[in-house]
Amino acid sequence: MSRKILVTAALPYANGHIHIGHLVEYIQTDIWVRFQKLRGHRCVFVCADDTHGTAIMIRARREGRSEEAVIADMRAAHMRDFAGFQIQFDNYGSTNSPDNRAACHEIWAAIRAAGLVKTRSVEQLFDPVAGTFLADRFVRGTCPKCTAADQPGDNCSVCGAAYTPADLRDPRSILSNAVPELRSADHLFIELEQLRPFLEDWSQNGGHLQSEVARYLKGNFLAEPLRDWDVSRPAPYFGFEIPDHPGNYWYVWFDAPIGYIASTREWCRQHGEQALDWWGRDSAAEIHHFIGKDITYFHTLFWPGMLQTAGLNLPKKVHVHGFLTVDGEKMSKSKGTFLMASTWLRHLPPTALRYYYATKLGPSLDDIDLNVEEFIARVNTDLVNKVVNLASRSAGFLAGQTLSDVYPDDGGLFAEAAARGDTIAGFYEDCNYNAATREIMALADKANKYVDEQQPWVIRKDPTRAAELRDVCSVTLNLFRQIVVYLSPVLPGLAQQTVELLNQPITSWDETSRPLTGTRVSPFQHLMKRLEMKQVMDMVEESRQENAAEQSAAPASPAAENAAPAGPAFHPADRWQDPGTALQNEPLAAECTIDDFTKVDLRVARVLEANHVEGANKLLQLTLSLGGGEVRNVFAGIKAAYKPEDLVGRLVICVANLKPRQMKFGLSQGMICASGAGGTEVFLLSPDTGAVPGHRVH
Ligand code: MSP
Ligand code: ZN
Repeated sequence: MSRKILVTAALPYANGHIHIGHLVEYIQTDIWVRFQKLRGHRCVFVCADDTHGTAIMIRARREGRSEEAVIADMRAAHMRDFAGFQIQFDNYGSTNSPDNRAACHEIWAAIRAAGLVKTRSVEQLFDPVAGTFLADRFVRGTCPKCTAADQPGDNCSVCGAAYTPADLRDPRSILSNAVPELRSADHLFIELEQLRPFLEDWSQNGGHLQSEVARYLKGNFLAEPLRDWDVSRPAPYFGFEIPDHPGNYWYVWFDAPIGYIASTREWCRQHGEQALDWWGRDSAAEIHHFIGKDITYFHTLFWPGMLQTAGLNLPKKVHVHGFLTVDGEKMSKSKGTFLMASTWLRHLPPTALRYYYATKLGPSLDDIDLNVEEFIARVNTDLVNKVVNLASRSAGFLAGQTLSDVYPDDGGLFAEAAARGDTIAGFYEDCNYNAATREIMALADKANKYVDEQQPWVIRKDPTRAAELRDVCSVTLNLFRQIVVYLSPVLPGLAQQTVELLNQPITSWDETSRPLTGTRVSPFQHLMKRLEMKQVMDMVEESRQENAAEQSAAPASPAAENAAPAGPAFHPADRWQDPGTALQNEPLAAECTIDDFTKVDLRVARVLEANHVEGANKLLQLTLSLGGGEVRNVFAGIKAAYKPEDLVGRLVICVANLKPRQMKFGLSQGMICASGAGGTEVFLLSPDTGAVPGHRVH
């Protein structure tokens, strides 16, 4: 039965160009959409630029033009890059559109009516010269931990410490260089906790999420009260003004996913359809979102919560993928591996990246590594040597003639490969492109074996065997075409070339079970060239130089809000000249055994609450969660070093089996781990990303 499927990929920020990391997602999604269309389903693929937020506003100011001009240019560049990689949207909208504004108003009204909105005063740094509140990345100063100068407001690029902008020493606004002031403003919050029963059910049941993702939500966010979501920002802000809170704007992450609906509305208007037939609660349409793992929270908690409250259609599935690494490392500007889509297209064919990513993509959230050697070998071995080789060893012999009128005996090869169709389709459906391409390459191996055995280049030398030659080449070209149809979601370009070669359109998956007979064979043209290492090296070198030129020319440019912090710009070890005084001040303790150590049960815990303690001048009272409802009340002597509001939500390490101690202020049920001499010199320990409350520290 034909399904009705609406597919989205995350809306790229209008603040930067498309790079090969983004392309993991857009290629993955495009393959899935092309597959669904080939299977005969009604499938619509919408996307848009994500245009709002402080970063765009600042860029526009710096460039002395309007935000609209900035986003229009970037939109054109994005669309060019996507087209270059054969990513075919049915509609590409913008979050700064009348449709999006209207949809935001409607959804907001529903959220208000449901009683989910509350107002709370929020303190934030404000630039008195630029007249704007400052997102974390717009403040730079001295790292409170390692004292490295000129560090961003959220995360030190030298020691890696995470903090808030208010913790920086000598903070400066990067906009005006003014010293920022702490100001408060009323923000609107959505009380997500009210939606808990729905969110627990939706995220854990019904197969809407990969099981890894469902477990992650359950073990992390859902294990504790859901935090209120701050959805407003005071002026100036580039976005939509909130109708019932004048002078305030919806935070970019509120209107961004609504952009999916707005883009669908645009498409519907052009096609005489009703958006509610896709987004209405009773609609038969399946909604599939494709996203990277960094934006899971927004798409699996906030967004379903918003849709549920507004009475709209809920996602059938959110497909989450991992991040791209290049040769095992994060993409790096200085190494030239932070490759822009446009740079790639100047050196290498889009097909090569589409195919390579397909061979790497599975249904899990594992990161994807672009290994340069493997990339070249994979593309050359599979596509050039196995697939295209089938055509180059047969099409030339039949150019200008027609395929055999009756499909010849091929020993059952075509029928066997046709019988694999359902398995291959199942792999595509499950986003297991790795398995799909392996299965298809196994078919290509069998087809090549057939050609090797038949040796058409030998038959050709004997004029009396012309009919035999025609049959062998007809079989080979049919096996080739069958493989191309199976691969066509990944390689639409090769499919198009094959259409031209064999003069028969490829419009349906069923073509894999019907051999072609009698159609004309066009003159053979080369389908694909071997990749050379030099092409990759030249590309990486060009990218490195471009980035170097950009870095020396441009003023400090913060990443978009919520963007992952950039990695260190140089090797941190260069700075690691630790003086050794800490060790002198507190010499190492006497030896202990592993048994001594394991007696102490150290656990990862999340700070649920942090409060001043009346009458105590060194202590803060902390409520720690070990997950699963297990909480600890702890008094910690960290008041001089930490503000309570900065602690709430972060992970710490606590001694979870310490004998409780009655203190003047209450019962203390543990300790949290910190280093430093005390007073203002206290540095809390925290685990790396991925740890969850309750993990034991070994
Ligand atoms: N604007 C938001 C999404 C809003 S959706 C309502 C955003 N934009 S983004 O440009 O930063 O990223 C767009 C998509 O590309 C995200 O799904 C993100 O996870 C993905 N990727 C960005 N960099 C990536 C890699 N290096 N590797 C894999 N995917 C990456 O987030
Ligand atoms: Zn630091």
